[in-house]
Amino acid sequence: KLDESDMVTFSAPVNIAIIKYWGKSCQKLNLPMNSSLSLNLNQDHLQAKTTIATSSTFIKDRIWLNGKEQDVEGNTRLQACLKEIRRLARLQAVKRNEDVHRVTRCSQKVHISSRNNFPTAAGLASSAAGYAALVAALGQLYRVDGDLSGVARCGSGSACRSMLGGFVEWVKGGKSDGTDSIAQQFVGEEHWPELRVLIVVTSAQTKAVGSTEGMQRSVETSALLQHRVDNVVPDRMKALTDAILNKDFSAFAEICMKESNQLHAVCQDTFPPLRYLNNVSEQIIRFVHAYNEHCSDTRVAYTFDAGPNAFLFVLERHLSEVASLIYKIFGPATDNATDFFRGERFKAYQS
Ligand code: PMV
Repeated sequence: KLDESDMVTFSAPVNIAIIKYWGKSCQKLNLPMNSSLSLNLNQDHLQAKTTIATSSTFIKDRIWLNGKEQDVEGNTRLQACLKEIRRLARLQAVKRNEDVHRVTRCSQKVHISSRNNFPTAAGLASSAAGYAALVAALGQLYRVDGDLSGVARCGSGSACRSMLGGFVEWVKGGKSDGTDSIAQQFVGEEHWPELRVLIVVTSAQTKAVGSTEGMQRSVETSALLQHRVDNVVPDRMKALTDAILNKDFSAFAEICMKESNQLHAVCQDTFPPLRYLNNVSEQIIRFVHAYNEHCSDTRVAYTFDAGPNAFLFVLERHLSEVASLIYKIFGPATDNATDFFRGERFKAYQS
């Protein structure tokens, strides 16, 4: 029988990167080649929820993802998180002069159950939300204080940004041990409540090349990636933070779309090339530019991570018009849908 302190549940939101992280300077510690900045989405719509139990009777660590048990031993990212959180837990327990029982408890095995309320591994940042919820729950279970974004980063780089709310920057840092490569809140979500996100799921299938493998291939073969890191990202980060502070949608939208396009240009420049967008994604990009031109105003911006699903930013006052247009053009009940979707699932979330 477990008592209350032996079981915790945490949930964490999906974050969508505006300034993209693509390329690691250290594979082992998940250190990024450039800083990135994201927005956390409303947890009611997209979240990972993780429950962790610990007991002295558990003989090994086990994990279930959406009800299906996964391998733990071969999962180096999960192992890295567990190892790091236990190291911090022991260190802090000893510092607090806790009794032997509490110190040994930091090595106790755990059973983890994690669920997403959205498609897993389809470019909807499921691993980011998953690792953030996991690390927050482990931190509570093992009584670890302080910033845990560095631990979440060991699981999935972008997970560190899901540990905080609102607009979050992942500062790349400069230390080789990664201790300064952490997430920092830039502004809270209350800063720009009119900014809304519409998510168009064009495919719920698992991506063919995972982000770790894709990034590695880009680091080895893309000349554009290094140019982007050295000459593009620093200025864009400054321009984006200014646009957010001034709530300047038009400036925000331009940087957002250019960043998405450059990520996918780097993927195209990778050899052999990586293709994450599908034909519907391309149609959505064309729709956004045509619609903004038609309105003589920037009303919608798209961004895509390593997957074909679109994240559309729009101000509250234009949301219902854009959502209904998207649904009309790309929704399942239209003639176009058979061409566009060929039986793939369509779902639009609003956040
Ligand atoms: O954290 P990872 O390893 O899943 O990589 C995420 C990469 C992108 O989603 C494409 C960009 C980003 O900054 O989130």
